[in-house]
This record gives sequence, structure tokens and C-alpha cells, in this order.
Amino acid sequence: MGFTSSNDQHHLLSKIATNDGHGEDSPYFDGWKAYDSNPFSPTQNPHGVIQMGLAENQLCFDLIQEWIKKNPKASICTTEGADGFKDIAIFQDYHGLPDFRKAVAKFMGRVRGGRVTFDADRIVMSGGATGANEVIAFCLADPGDAFLVPSPYYPAFDRDLRWRTGVQLVPVVCESSNDFKITEAALEAAYEQAQEANIKVKGLLITNPSNPLGTILDRETLKSLVSFINKKNIHLVCDEIYTATVFSEPNFISIAEIIEEDMECNRDLIHIVYSLSKDMGLPGFRVGIVYSYNDTVVNCGRKMSSFGLVSTQTQHLIASMLLDDEFVERFIAESAKRLATRHKGFIRGLLQVRIACLNSNAGLFCWMDLRRLLTESTVEAEMALWHLIIHEVKLNVSPGSSFHCSEPGWFRVCFANMDDDTMEVAIRRIQTFVQRKEAVVPGNKQQRRRSNLRLSCSSPRLDEQVMTPRMMSPHSPMALSPCLRART
Ligand SMILES: Cc1ncc(COP(=O)(O)O)c(C=O)c1O
Repeated sequence: MGFTSSNDQHHLLSKIATNDGHGEDSPYFDGWKAYDSNPFSPTQNPHGVIQMGLAENQLCFDLIQEWIKKNPKASICTTEGADGFKDIAIFQDYHGLPDFRKAVAKFMGRVRGGRVTFDADRIVMSGGATGANEVIAFCLADPGDAFLVPSPYYPAFDRDLRWRTGVQLVPVVCESSNDFKITEAALEAAYEQAQEANIKVKGLLITNPSNPLGTILDRETLKSLVSFINKKNIHLVCDEIYTATVFSEPNFISIAEIIEEDMECNRDLIHIVYSLSKDMGLPGFRVGIVYSYNDTVVNCGRKMSSFGLVSTQTQHLIASMLLDDEFVERFIAESAKRLATRHKGFIRGLLQVRIACLNSNAGLFCWMDLRRLLTESTVEAEMALWHLIIHEVKLNVSPGSSFHCSEPGWFRVCFANMDDDTMEVAIRRIQTFVQRKEAVVPGNKQQRRRSNLRLSCSSPRLDEQVMTPRMMSPHSPMALSPCLRART
């Protein structure tokens, strides 16, 4: 018995099964493959690749574990909680457990500073924000229709919104000259470009706080976006899954607050995507939410949610946890504090070698400016630098072009998915790399001499010189197969 060839497969299977809309085969997975085949461990593999391409919030698991131990009744698989097992195990209503919806609505209000409330009856669940974004695309657009998306944007939108729906994405080009702000001119240009190509624009999709920028949208910009979509009579989808990662001022402003304000707005056009993957650091629980102000979208989304329900076991646990006000208060405050500290340390480390990042106050990553290390301002040069960083520096960071950034030389670097010691090694690796790289920039003789001096006493491997006794920590970033992981 032989295997069928890929040509036969194209004939036998659907277009979705045989197209590459998922993106797993894209060259951008090289970094994940490099990490997967050689993951860093301070004790087992100190020269391995450090994972800095994963937007995970792993800084507060101690708080969650502590809560779980104190609340054994919240789990149905404990002696204390087993009495509730049957009722939870058989529940399958796609509206979700009432307490779960109530708890999530309350939490969504709380992480938005209590300045806005959410109606539990509008909470539609889905498999993470990934599922929520696809549900929204299915509800709002037909194959061939498009959403405008300010770039740089989260690469997996290309998968989540397009792959199975047939919807298209049209980038709204944002530039470093004004800190990647979304301008009305850029929105109009993208809209016109779509129209010229005979593409029907159904909505604008924004991510606030932004992945990859780590910035938040100010009130004025949010208002201008609402005016724009109202004027064009298209939808506004706001992916707000990084809400509680805002770690310093100014405060986050949700689109929910803007539409409560005194401004002309057709609420039927406004939809929020949320999840607990980033704010609570629970991507494995797949708790995603569509919150729409449009009744038809709520009803249709709820029917669609049958395809991506959150298990009742998870709903039950999350409901208990999020209805514990004291825990939620402490968790939100502590998480922001730890993120701020980590961000500050990382930025400081980069500044020591004059590497700057875009000013940001949210997210689990920095948008690092390596433009001066490019041999020329092209995507090819960016990819060449990226390969050096993966294979020589042994850091899996993400190149700006994977986020559809219009300017080569920017990289997203995640800082919240590892312990302090690993972060220290990562910073030292970047510092050594930049110093070496600049030592060979022509015309920089003084610097070259200085760097050579420093490097002459270093070992051939970039990280051997940065090993310290503190490095014997048993903790390391988790090693996971890129094939098993969605791009985050
Ligand atoms: C902007 C954005 N939306 C959605 C997702 C997917 O999140 P989830 O794990 O909840 O599916 C991510 C994950 O990185 C993201 O950054």
C-alpha cells in the first residue's frame, strides 16, 4: 500500500485542506523550529535557543496555584468538589454556565478600571480569542469581503480571520515617524485601495493594546476610528485581549467606554473580542469571548459557539476564581507590577548597548528597533539579521515583516514567558551581539577597538561568558513543539 501524492490530495480534498492559509509552513516558523530542536535550559542546555517569540504571561502562576490550593471545591476533580462532578460534566448548553458568563462580564469590567459594565447576556464564548475572531469574521463578512487592519498586526490574524472564512485583510499602513499611530489619512488610503480593487470592506479590526507594539490607543484616536466606521457604515472589531497587561500610565481606554460617551455611534457596528489567555496567563484553557452590541451577532455567534465551546470544567473553575473579588484585585495589581518590573529591566539592558524600543506601557513584548544593524533597509536584510539572531545569538524573536510592518528592522521580543535568570542571559546575549556587530561597522574604528578588547577575552560561544552561578535555576521556558502551538 502506497501513500497518495500531494497532487492526488488536491484532487481528493477541499480547498481549505490543501491551501496554505494556516501559515504553519511559512518561513516565519524557522525560529520556532530552531527553538524546538534546541531549547535553552540553564542546567541541561545553556547554549540552547531562548524562546522570545511567545507572547505568554507566565509571571503570576504562583498566585493562581495558591488560589487553587485554597479553593479545592472549585475543581470538580478533587475530594471537596467531586459532588458537583455530574452536574458540570453533563451540562452542554452553548449559552454557557450562568455563573461563568456573570464572572467573565464582571472581570471584563474590572480590568477596564470599573469605568464600564458588561451585560452577561451578551457574553458569547469561543475557543480562545482565535475562535472569537473567526466567529466575528463569519458573522460580519462573506468570502471575498475584507477587514482593514492597521499594520504592524498580529500575524495569526491572517489565519484566524481568513483561512476558513475566505475573508481578506487589507493593511492600514502605520509608520514609525509618528510612533505607528493610526491616522485618518492611512485609513482612507486603505479603504480606497480596497475599493479600487473591487473589494467590499466590511469592517476595521484593531488590537488595543497592540500586539506587537505594546502601545494603547488614546481617546482621540479611538473617537476618530468610531467616526470613520460610522461614516463608512462598516463594523469595528476591537481585540482587547491585552487589557490587563497595561502596566503603567496612561490608563487603558476600552472601546466600551468610548461608545458610552456622548458621541454619535451606531452600536450595532461595535464588537469586542476578549480572552483570558494574556490577562490571566491561561492560553491553554481556551477561554475566548465575543462581546457584541449587535443582537443578531450575539445570537448567531452563540449558535456558532457550539463549534468551539469552553469545557464546563473550565467554566466552573473560572467562574469561582473570577467571582473572588479579593483574588482578582490582588492578581491584577500584582501582575501589572511584575510586568512593569520585567519591562523596565529589559529596556534598561537594551539601552546599555543603545538599542531602543518603541515607548510602550502594555503587552508582553517590546517592539525593538534594530534598523541600524541592517546592511540595507530591505526585508531581505531584515530576514538575514533575523537568521543571525536565531542561529548565532540563539534567541527566537519575531521579525517585523511577519507582522506586515512596512519598515524593515523592527523585531518583537517577548519578555514575560521566562524566569528572571533566563531573561538575564537573553539580555547579555543581545548586548554581546550588538557590540560584536558594531565592532565591524566600517568607519567606527574607536568602537571597533573597544569591542575587540572586550570580545578578545570572551569564549567562542556567545553565552559562555554570561554564565553565572545564579544560572543554575531549575526553571526554564517551556519547550513545546511549534507544530503543536498556535503562533502567539
Ligand atoms: C492580538 C491577539 N489576538 C488573538 C490572539 C489569540 O489568543 P487566544 O490564545 O486567546 O486564542 C493573540 C495571541 O497571541 C493575540 O495576540
